[in-house]
Amino acid sequence: MNKFNTLKITSVITVVSILLSACGKDKRSTGWEYAPNMYEHIAYDPDQANTNFKDGKTAQVPPVGTTPIGFVRFDYPNTKDGYEKASLEVVNKYIADKKNLADGKILFEHFCSPCHGIQGQGDGLVVQHGYPAPPSYSKGTSSRGGAMKDLTDGKIYHTITYGLNAMGSYASQLAPDERWKVVLYIHQLQKI
Ligand code: HEC
Repeated sequence: MNKFNTLKITSVITVVSILLSACGKDKRSTGWEYAPNMYEHIAYDPDQANTNFKDGKTAQVPPVGTTPIGFVRFDYPNTKDGYEKASLEVVNKYIADKKNLADGKILFEHFCSPCHGIQGQGDGLVVQHGYPAPPSYSKGTSSRGGAMKDLTDGKIYHTITYGLNAMGSYASQLAPDERWKVVLYIHQLQKI
């Protein structure tokens, strides 16, 4: 047997044994782990048992009253009371300058005008195709009472956040600062 043959046989045996070792009886086994630190790291996994905490879990519920970084609180429930309370307590911190109104206009035209209409008169394109018409911002009456032109910052913000009947919530489409800019722009439409 020359050197070349020995090399060939050794290579075949190596490849076959690697292949065989990969198909053990235990189907759930990951087989031979290369660099196991990649799997068994020092940090706890979120779903791992953890004796450092009283409840034995790694993923802990945040303590009551804490706010995640960057999260904007709006502690008014989706009820008539929450709506009225927001109306009394919540004030728009954004001022109606040119930039904010221009941003509000773009957002309104993209997200709201299909139903409310470009001028906020409740005659948007989908309404023209049979969707229930929202009341005009300047001349209509709110289904929750009062004239639409008197809707406050808090009432409009509450409506954008939770929706109302045929209108869905826009909380996942509009970030809090964007909602406030839309509120500024609606105040313009209330005067039409
Ligand atoms: C799919 C259609 C539709 C879209 C899109 C829509 N709305 Fe509405 N909206 C309605 C309807 C319908 C009502 C009336 C609901 C009721 O009173 O039952 C309404 C009511 C309102 C009211 C009055 C709430 C009150 O207290 O009476 C406000 C304010 C409002 N919408 C703001 C917005 C804003 C801001 C947007 C965009 C971010 C928007 N809507 C997008 C359909 C829509």
